[in-house]
Amino acid sequence: MAIERTLSIIKPDATRRNLTGKINAKFEDAGLRIVAQKRIQLTPAQAGKFYEVHKDRPFYGELCEFMASGPVVVQVLQGEGAIAKNRDVMGATNPADAAAGTVRADFAESVGENSVHGSDAPDTAAAEIAYFFSGLELVG
Ligand code: CMP
Repeated sequence: MAIERTLSIIKPDATRRNLTGKINAKFEDAGLRIVAQKRIQLTPAQAGKFYEVHKDRPFYGELCEFMASGPVVVQVLQGEGAIAKNRDVMGATNPADAAAGTVRADFAESVGENSVHGSDAPDTAAAEIAYFFSGLELVG
């Protein structure tokens, strides 16, 4: 399987509860390597641009406000099949549906405040990585 990179975000509900290290341990235990990482505070407009694909969804406003409500950790994860592997580690979007041991089963508070985001396909991974990082910041 090919080596891939994917964009991950540790969301404000998780940074607020000091869970960055516990979440990173799950990524690393699954064989994903954190090749870039920074803690930032998004504005609602920056969150809105990132989640533009959801702009017509009823939860869009709430999602943008939440993502700007506290620090996030944006990171690039690298590994074999990293996009799908990260989605396995995260678990289902709604924590009520997430498999035991996944990040969302263990830590998410609700479908909106679900602790992590991960890219869903190679084209979105490339665009999402480029939204937050320059090539010089990715150190494999
Ligand atoms: P994420 O993987 O970051 O991608 C889009 C996000 O929208 C998703 O995780 C959820 O946090 C959020 N989301 C999806 N469905 C709902 C919903 N019904 N209510 C609130 N937020 C939602």
